Amino acid sequence: MSYFEDAQKKYEKLKHKENVLILSVESSCDETSIALVENGRKVLSNIVSSQIDIHKLYGGVVPEIASRNHIKNITGVLDEALLKANKTLSDIDAVAVTYGAGLIGALLVGVNFAKTLAFALKVPLIAVSHVHGHIGANYISHVDLTPPFLCLMVSGGHTAIVEVKDYCDFNLLGTTVDDSVGECFDKVARVLGLSYPGGPNIDRLAKEGKNIVKFNYKTPLKDTLNFSFSGLKTAVVNYVHNCEQKNTDFSKADVACSFQELATDELVSKTMLACRDYPKLVVAGGVGANSRLREKLETACKKNGVKLYLPDLKYCTDNAAMIGAIAYYYMKAGIGLSDLSLTASATVRI
Ligand code: KG4
Ligand code: ZN
Repeated sequence: MSYFEDAQKKYEKLKHKENVLILSVESSCDETSIALVENGRKVLSNIVSSQIDIHKLYGGVVPEIASRNHIKNITGVLDEALLKANKTLSDIDAVAVTYGAGLIGALLVGVNFAKTLAFALKVPLIAVSHVHGHIGANYISHVDLTPPFLCLMVSGGHTAIVEVKDYCDFNLLGTTVDDSVGECFDKVARVLGLSYPGGPNIDRLAKEGKNIVKFNYKTPLKDTLNFSFSGLKTAVVNYVHNCEQKNTDFSKADVACSFQELATDELVSKTMLACRDYPKLVVAGGVGANSRLREKLETACKKNGVKLYLPDLKYCTDNAAMIGAIAYYYMKAGIGLSDLSLTASATVRI
């Protein structure tokens, strides 16, 4: 029997197994991560090896350097993940991997590593969308969370409002027509001279802001669930450049704070518009760690009688546990099983 015929049979059988242990691999950007997750909810280990200190030197992720460091780190991350979970490779029921969206070279390291493991262990290989993984992070943080719900997806690559009808049934209600909100945070941070990754640094600096700065900006795309962030980004960049050219003093904290207020207002107002038909809201992705966004969503949801689910901070940004969580539900739905021709994809559809 070929590897794939055997994997197909095993995948079907897993649906009825009481305890399913998935080893998951995530390498879509600059984090090399491997996790062991049981039944989509219980994290036995989640090792994240971050390359932030390397990419900081360049002000952003350098794709080629990210790929090389994934290769360097990945076997050590696997050893650590098994050790922490107190498991061996023979305990693994399936291997899951992020196949997209992300940096092609970086993704390929994880994909090839996962293919090799799945083949050697004779277990099914599950190809997972990174975006679905971010949603899956919430099943770890909230054991009581079940679909249907509405999801605000805010990361470096995506800004979207997604209707999650079932674990593997997604309907895109709105998305950005230009930049993602994460890109916008990172660009504003860069123009303010803050180091990579910019989002957390804006979040920190904004807390020291005292006065609201008026940028040359009007909220775009009213009365739709689509977002636009490039106008806001340009307005902030122009403001800073103008001040620098004219040698006018300005407060970086005030700029960070004023920008963050506008960006989070845009996210919260659209989300609450979409929430009119939903009693449950889930947040996913790196920008979901933003303290002001979390605060505003809590207030708005309370006011509108919406139950809010925020992922733990460590599951907002990229990690393999979220991939293992959603992979379990792929398996239950009978989707995602891949043969050894699996390759990486720079983009994926939600
Ligand atoms: O989900 P993620 O780790 O990677 C992608 O899938 O893109 O998101 C990364 C993005 C970056 O743009 C980063 O600056 C942003 O999330 N981010 C934040 C915060 N923490 C991470 N943005 C605002 N406030 C934060 N606290
Ligand atoms: Zn991500």
